[in-house]
This record gives sequence, C-alpha cells and structure tokens, in this order.
Amino acid sequence: MLEPSIHLLNHAKQGKYAIPALNFHNLEILQAIIETAEKSRSPVILQISPIYLEKIGRVAAAAMAREAAKDANVPVALHLDHSDSLHWIKWALDNGFTSVMLDASSRPLDENIALAYQTAKLAHERGATAEAELGHIGGVEDNRETGTNPDMGLADPDEAAKLVRDSGIDILAPAVGSAHGLYKRPPKIDFHLIKKLAAALKIPLVLHGGSGIPDAMVREAISCGITKVNIGTELKVAWARWMSEALGHEQEPWKAAVKTRAGVARVVEQKIQMCGSAGRA
Ligand code: 13P
Ligand code: ZN
Ligand code: NA
Repeated sequence: MLEPSIHLLNHAKQGKYAIPALNFHNLEILQAIIETAEKSRSPVILQISPIYLEKIGRVAAAAMAREAAKDANVPVALHLDHSDSLHWIKWALDNGFTSVMLDASSRPLDENIALAYQTAKLAHERGATAEAELGHIGGVEDNRETGTNPDMGLADPDEAAKLVRDSGIDILAPAVGSAHGLYKRPPKIDFHLIKKLAAALKIPLVLHGGSGIPDAMVREAISCGITKVNIGTELKVAWARWMSEALGHEQEPWKAAVKTRAGVARVVEQKIQMCGSAGRA
C-alpha cells in the first residue's frame, strides 16, 4: 500500500527503529526493493531524484514506482529525493508521490526556510510529507561531485529549530558527517549532534549518504535519533556487478534481470536488518 512517509516514520520513531529509504534507478532495483520488503515484512521508502527521473523517463518511472507501491502488501512511501525546485515538488505531487524533499541547503537559511515552507504547504494540501535539508552533506550526488564548501558544515541546532518551526516541514535531513557515495575512509558521524537535534526537534531525522557506513555506526545513529536511512550507491554497485555477470552468459533480458534482482535483493535485505525494520509491517 502507498502511504505518506510520515506514517511509516512515526511508527519507526515510536518503535526505535528506522525506515530504509532506498533509491531506485531502474525496474530491477525497484522490484528488488519491493520484493525484499514484502519478504521481510518491512515498511520501506522508495525514492528517486529529479536527475534520475529525467534520465530514465519521468512519466514511466513514476508510474511503475507508484503502481508497484500500491500493489505491495507492506506500507511503501514514494519519495522525491533531492529536489531543488518547487516545479519538481509540484510535478511529483501531481504524479502520486506521497513524500517530497526540498534540498535548498546550499542557499542562505532564510531562502531555505521560505522554500521549505512552500514545499510543506504543497505537500500537506495533498496529504503528503515534506523533508528539508540543513547543513552540507558532501560527496557524490547523482554522479556529480558536490565537493565541500568551507562555509558550510554540520547542521546548527538553533538553525534547525528555526527551520522546523518556521517552515512546518515533517522531517529533517541535518548534515551530521555522512556523505553521498562510498567513503575513502570511514565517516565521522557526530552522534552527540544527532542526540541534541532529536531531543530539540521531535520530528523524524534523516541520515543521507547511507552507503558505505558500517552497520554498527548506522545502528548507533538510529539509537541516537535517526529514523530514515537513505541508501543509493550500494544498490547501484550491486546492480552493475550482477548485471554484468549475468550478461556474460545470458541474452534473454528477463533472465539477466532475475539474477540481478537477486543480487540487489541481498543488499536490500541487509539494509532492512540494519535498520531493524523487518517484521514491522
Ligand atoms: P548513498 O548513495 O551514499 O547511499 O546516499 C544516498 C542518499 O543520501 C540519497 O538521498
Ligand atoms: Zn541524499
Ligand atoms: Na555514502
């Protein structure tokens, strides 16, 4: 069933586990996510960013994800990830997304708040959930190196309180030391900051850049107050590995897809275990 992400996240927050928010880039990854969520009885957030929607065809991508989510026998939210414009937020809400993220974290705080306010308003009119970002989450985003901006760093708790209060957003992605893509060396997650933000804000917090973070660190982050764990790169890496292996001896697309799906599903299963969301649906 297709649900707003806040429903899944509120349950998770109460139950002290997290919802895996998994990026899909094609049909095989989408199916691996849904099938594994059903098998593990785990709620799950399916997400995709505007850049990928453009690359794979937004109408078809939204339709397949929306229909797969509706058809699933566990709660699934369909989330627009890292959108930097209200245009995309509106488009997603018109196309069945039940959750949207406005990423205006590189802008001055007042602009970020103003855009987050508009995002929350548009989302709430449709019964959808709104996420905003604060601080600088570095690394590789959608194959673009976002680099590190020395003027920006971890989320500031006072700014976070103001952003949440003045915008009405439902969930917040604060920069706490993680980065998109795989890590050259293990990340330094600021667990103390997560605790502080969780105590002050009360709304679900999101850990971006989940790929490459050791399971024990993610679990610690969850125990400190993270409720949504975003994972993208590791699924793409698994897809590429198993698809290239399958294509070595398969010409039939569906046969290659079955093998690839099984490989991606193992990563999804591990992330569900890590988040503690198995058996919660
Ligand atoms: P990774 O690619 O590092 O898993 O990050 C995913 C993410 O944050 C999507 O928003
Ligand atoms: Zn992200
Ligand atoms: Na990462």
